[in-house]
Amino acid sequence: MTHRILILGGTTEARQLAGKLAARADTSVTLSLAGRTESPVAQGVPVRVGGFGGAGGLAAYLRQNQIDLLIDATHPYAAQISANGAEAARMTGVTIVALRRPGWDPAEGDRWMLVDRVASAVTALGSMPRRVFLALGRQEVAAFEAAPQHHYLIRSVDPVEPRLAVPDATYLLARGPFHEADERALLESRGIEVVVSKNSGGEATYGKIAAARALGIEVVMIRRPALPDVASAETVDALAAMVDHFLVGHVLGPAAERGV
Ligand SMILES: NC(=O)c1ccc[n+]([C@@H]2O[C@H](COP(=O)([O-])OP(=O)(O)OC[C@H]3O[C@@H](n4cnc5c(N)ncnc54)[C@H](OP(=O)(O)O)[C@@H]3O)[C@@H](O)[C@H]2O)c1
Repeated sequence: MTHRILILGGTTEARQLAGKLAARADTSVTLSLAGRTESPVAQGVPVRVGGFGGAGGLAAYLRQNQIDLLIDATHPYAAQISANGAEAARMTGVTIVALRRPGWDPAEGDRWMLVDRVASAVTALGSMPRRVFLALGRQEVAAFEAAPQHHYLIRSVDPVEPRLAVPDATYLLARGPFHEADERALLESRGIEVVVSKNSGGEATYGKIAAARALGIEVVMIRRPALPDVASAETVDALAAMVDHFLVGHVLGPAAERGV
């Protein structure tokens, strides 16, 4: 029996999980990407790209492709697709499980200012010009045009196009992981006074947070959005174990399946 699994991805963990599950002889795995990144890293499994057209579109995809299990392994700030996944699962009765990477907690020496959204981060920078490191997606940085008095260092995977309508912005193209020593060198060499970050969790992008702490630099931390309450695990291995459990139940029948 082949179990058809759809993974909503766009994260390193989604790719790792896809590789792990695809290695099984009893699964057929498809990874779904939004198509935001111009040249995504090779995913190693069949990929489909682009939006589904809301929860209804995703539900139709699940039905048409006879998906047995939906896995939400999207980024913790991708709240819309997570909500759509939960809703599509409800509409179709397809089981959903999610990978919910825990956020970072402030450690001693951290100088975090917590804000609820990107627009609040812009305001939190204040009116006096500061040297700001924006480690956000290219979709979000446009909001900082509302505070053109600051000097921006903007790092993104793809070029920020159009460029920000501010007098002083420098652009860096890079893909993580980023290590603390390199992040510290970057913050020091550019004279950064404040970092704006999401609370992404995980190791790959924590370097800048540790570096800011070591240098006594303030971090404007954008809080995580609310996500739907679905069965979840915090790591790739724990989620793979949940999937194992589901697959056993799926072979045995619906009663065992409810154990997920
Ligand atoms: N937000 C971040 O900070 C961040 C960081 C790293 C990676 N990512 C990844 O980038 C992607 C987009 O993030 P976002 O914050 O723009 O998402 P979002 O706001 O939650 O989703 C917006 C729309 O994009 C489409 N979409 C999002 N993820 C998709 C996926 N994996 N497969 C197919 N369609 C998808 C859906 O369109 P339809 O309604 O038409 O289906 C969704 O309604 C996600 O896959 C996420 O994992 C996001």
